[in-house]
Amino acid sequence: MRYINKRFLIENISVTNLAKKFNTPIYCYSYKKLKTNVISFKNKFKSFNPLICFAVKSNTNVNLLREIRKLGYGADVVSIGELMKALKAGFNPKKIVFSGVGKTSNELNYAINKNILLINAESKSEIIEIEKIAKSKKKYVNIGIRLNPNTDAKTLTQISTGKKENKFGVTEKTFIELVKHAKKTKYINLKCLSVHIGSQIVNNQPYEKMLKVVDRIIKKINHKFEFIDLGGGMGISYNNKVKKLNYKKYSTAIKNFLKNHKSKIIFEPGRSIIGNTGILISKIIYIKKNKDKDFIILDTAMNDLMRPALYGANHQIIPAIKKSKNSKKTYEFVGPICESTDKFLTLKNFQKLNEKDLIIICDVGAYGMSLSSNYNVRPKPIEILVKGSKIRIIKKRQKLKDLI
Ligand code: LLP
Repeated sequence: MRYINKRFLIENISVTNLAKKFNTPIYCYSYKKLKTNVISFKNKFKSFNPLICFAVKSNTNVNLLREIRKLGYGADVVSIGELMKALKAGFNPKKIVFSGVGKTSNELNYAINKNILLINAESKSEIIEIEKIAKSKKKYVNIGIRLNPNTDAKTLTQISTGKKENKFGVTEKTFIELVKHAKKTKYINLKCLSVHIGSQIVNNQPYEKMLKVVDRIIKKINHKFEFIDLGGGMGISYNNKVKKLNYKKYSTAIKNFLKNHKSKIIFEPGRSIIGNTGILISKIIYIKKNKDKDFIILDTAMNDLMRPALYGANHQIIPAIKKSKNSKKTYEFVGPICESTDKFLTLKNFQKLNEKDLIIICDVGAYGMSLSSNYNVRPKPIEILVKGSKIRIIKKRQKLKDLI
């Protein structure tokens, strides 16, 4: 994705042509970027050959899931809907892990029937529920227990999951009790310890702390886990100021950990695989001039991309066609929704914009479309996958008639 002759291209296709052909807003993904991310993530940890389960919640497009599956990954799901999508995309059930704090008995039943690799349980009540279902089916079920390591991921508080005040996993004390309980239970095979401390993590120290806690607890309980599921959370650069996660240090820390524990590592990355593969293309409807700033009113809004409204996240905005003249005004890029939080970014010294110009919101592949809604009865955007010079519609634009 780059400018050629001042036009922004995704692989060989210009954003302007896409907008002409499909109208806006458009979620557009690059296959090449996706493939590069999938392979490079795998290579970063190849010395211990982990099972990599893509976190479906970050992007649930079944066609993208299929591409990720074809490149050898498994899937991490958190609901029956995600599990169904993963199966539809052809993921091998033996490469699917099911996480989440509140799996209903209906969801557990379905997962058990599908013989997935692991159900990562997060409470005693859930384990009892799994036991009940397993017993009724006379089936041995593989489970993991999610530990809350009380580790600060040093990321946004809204996307931290590994501190004791967070609802996720169980405390060390409960973990130890549950291991004892699970070992006594006939139809449960305790195969995995799982952790996931948060998302958009760019500092390797929290991961290293988390590994120390896991190491200490396993030594204490003396149970051999076939799998250690370290979750996902690896952050990406949304702008040049964001520091990059040091994968080398993280990988070395895991290798050291594995010297004492002969387990297979599982990862559940989402954002690091899909985040920078997608852009959101939008057209300016109106420009509303104000004293201190101009409001750039886009045809996309918080219903299409929630992250700025929900977490104050910054996604870079760039023009589809570069011009040399800059505006002296400050631009505030907003959507048409009736909420003051329906704004994306405020920028100074942006190139001079006109109504009907196209802009691009960057790095929206993860938690973009998957968090979108129909708020204000707005149909969801079309999704397109570009592969070289080929354009593929991977999800049609919703029609108003489907919503009315
Ligand atoms: N595994 C578990 C158990 C998770 O809860 C998550 C994310 C992942 C894996 C994948 O994490 P990733 O590698 O994508 O960071 N909507 C927020 C992010 C929420 C993450 C929820 N859990 C955002 O837009 O930043």
